[in-house]
Amino acid sequence: MIRHDGYDRAAVFYDLFDTKDNVDFFHHYAQPTGIIADIGAGTGRIAIPLAARGIQVYCVEPSEAMLKEFEKKLAKDIRLSRRITLQKNDAAAFEFDRRFPAAFLSGAYDHFMDDDERIAALSNMHRHLETGGKIVFDVFLGSMKNSPLHPAGSITQGTTEYRRYIKSTIGSDNRIEVLLVYEKYQRGRLTQRIEQQSQAAVVNRKQTHEVLAMTGFEVVHEYSDYQFKKFTPGDDLLIVEAERT
Ligand SMILES: C[S@@+](CC[C@H](N)C(=O)[O-])C[C@H]1O[C@@H](n2cnc3c(N)ncnc32)[C@H](O)[C@@H]1O
Repeated sequence: MIRHDGYDRAAVFYDLFDTKDNVDFFHHYAQPTGIIADIGAGTGRIAIPLAARGIQVYCVEPSEAMLKEFEKKLAKDIRLSRRITLQKNDAAAFEFDRRFPAAFLSGAYDHFMDDDERIAALSNMHRHLETGGKIVFDVFLGSMKNSPLHPAGSITQGTTEYRRYIKSTIGSDNRIEVLLVYEKYQRGRLTQRIEQQSQAAVVNRKQTHEVLAMTGFEVVHEYSDYQFKKFTPGDDLLIVEAERT
């Protein structure tokens, strides 16, 4: 059974710490047609700014807690909510009664725990793409290793400071157990501490290419950052752009 509780306790802190500058990158794929599918859309961190630029975004997100954060943001702007369709579902099971010129997964590919899950997700995305349609996703190759609990960001807002710590442990079957710790300090005093356990999978480039070929995709570009820098082996970030054949 696929578990989607890895963000339950941390969803309220998600946007504070995911500061990846990648909205322009995904806009590049949405802009030519004005429509895109965002699979594993999380809190709408990317979908909402895309909608603000006039894009029609079809979102899929399985985590109740992440959806709640997404909906809170949408409730503040009715105009944007008209451009966003939000479906509580996962990548393998979502169902829209239309096809898309492009679909992306941001930060979600390593949540597919084995090849069966990867094939089910990519096949369903394939089914939702027009011929020649594109899938774009990122894989954080550099973070797939053991690391002891270490600081991973701190944000100050007025008199409140938020701190995050991460520990990663590679277990059996190429699974990564991730422990995230969030702390909230008010005027220097610890007022809240949350621990979030989640799971990810170790994936590599070769195996990613194989899964893409098996599900009817051809890799057309690989980048190592969100400014379209060409990927070279050894880079920490792999961003794949693949076309539905
Ligand atoms: C690192 S977050 C990224 C959220 C968002 N895409 C962003 O970039 O801000 C990964 C998201 O993938 C979702 N996810 C996990 N497993 C999934 C699955 N099988 N299908 C679709 N989404 C999934 C999680 O619930 C979470 O919201």
